[in-house]
Amino acid sequence: MAEYQWYPGHMTKAKRMMQEDIKLIDLVIELVDARVPFGSRNPDIDELGKNKSRIILLNKSDLADAKKNKLWMGYFADKGFHALEINAKTGTGVKSIQGVVQEACRDKIERDRRRGILNRPVRAMVVGIPNVGKSTFINSFAGRACAKTGNRPGVTKGKQWIRLNKGLELLDTPGILWPKFEDQTVGLHLAMIGSMNDEIVHLDELAYELIRFLRGEYPGLLEKRYDIEISDGQDAYDVIRAVCVSRKCYLKGEELDIMKASSMVVDDFRSGRIGRITLEIPEE
Ligand code: G4P
Repeated sequence: MAEYQWYPGHMTKAKRMMQEDIKLIDLVIELVDARVPFGSRNPDIDELGKNKSRIILLNKSDLADAKKNKLWMGYFADKGFHALEINAKTGTGVKSIQGVVQEACRDKIERDRRRGILNRPVRAMVVGIPNVGKSTFINSFAGRACAKTGNRPGVTKGKQWIRLNKGLELLDTPGILWPKFEDQTVGLHLAMIGSMNDEIVHLDELAYELIRFLRGEYPGLLEKRYDIEISDGQDAYDVIRAVCVSRKCYLKGEELDIMKASSMVVDDFRSGRIGRITLEIPEE
């Protein structure tokens, strides 16, 4: 489980590094978590990357609701991004990125050609908040077949570029964007997907919120997963108690182990065992 806690100092540092690295590249490949595509973005990237080509990858699409993935793809396309659904862990969708890169960088490639610059590769950088799958993606995108290029004139010392093909080079270290939890709902969603330090969230509260959401948006999934029955009059606390009984989470004697059942529910959600679930839908 990734554990991140962000202080103003972290954010300033992350931002400064982004500002430096972004100068070196033509294309920003931004990863978002498909279960929380809004909350797992930091909109500051729009300002930082304003003169760059942009691609958004809806990662962990395997854990998210397939229909909602389509809605989000439409949303990002409407905003003018080139977007793609992927699963960085298995590599699903990753192959299609090369074509999208060509699309996204068409203007740059054209501009180079008009100026007589031929065969200058597109330089790209992967960015995203912690835990969205940046390292997993770089590994699956770059694979083993790639060659690392050394330092070259004009490139900041120490930066490593991975050459994917003669038209594309990728900065080997991803850019870390700082999450924005100013909005309470966003904070809650990030906690649900495990992008916040679990020590600062109350797992039982988190489980109750998740249960409320699931009952409203995905009725039947909890019943199926935990082999329980839930009636209308019952609240989230009753549901956790039912999970305790069904999964035999007891402290001593007959006392229910609410924390154990809560952490089970949260964990099952995060790893997709309750089902493919998306927490956010695009705003109108
Ligand atoms: P980061 O660099 O952005 O911080 O993220 P990282 O690649 O470390 O990935 C964070 C976690 O998300 C990892 O799980 C990784 O396996 C998982 N992950 C990345 N992409 C996908 C995806 O498309 N689908 C799914 N289901 N999972 C993905 P972990 O729990 O830290 O490790 P492990 O359990 O995979 O060993």
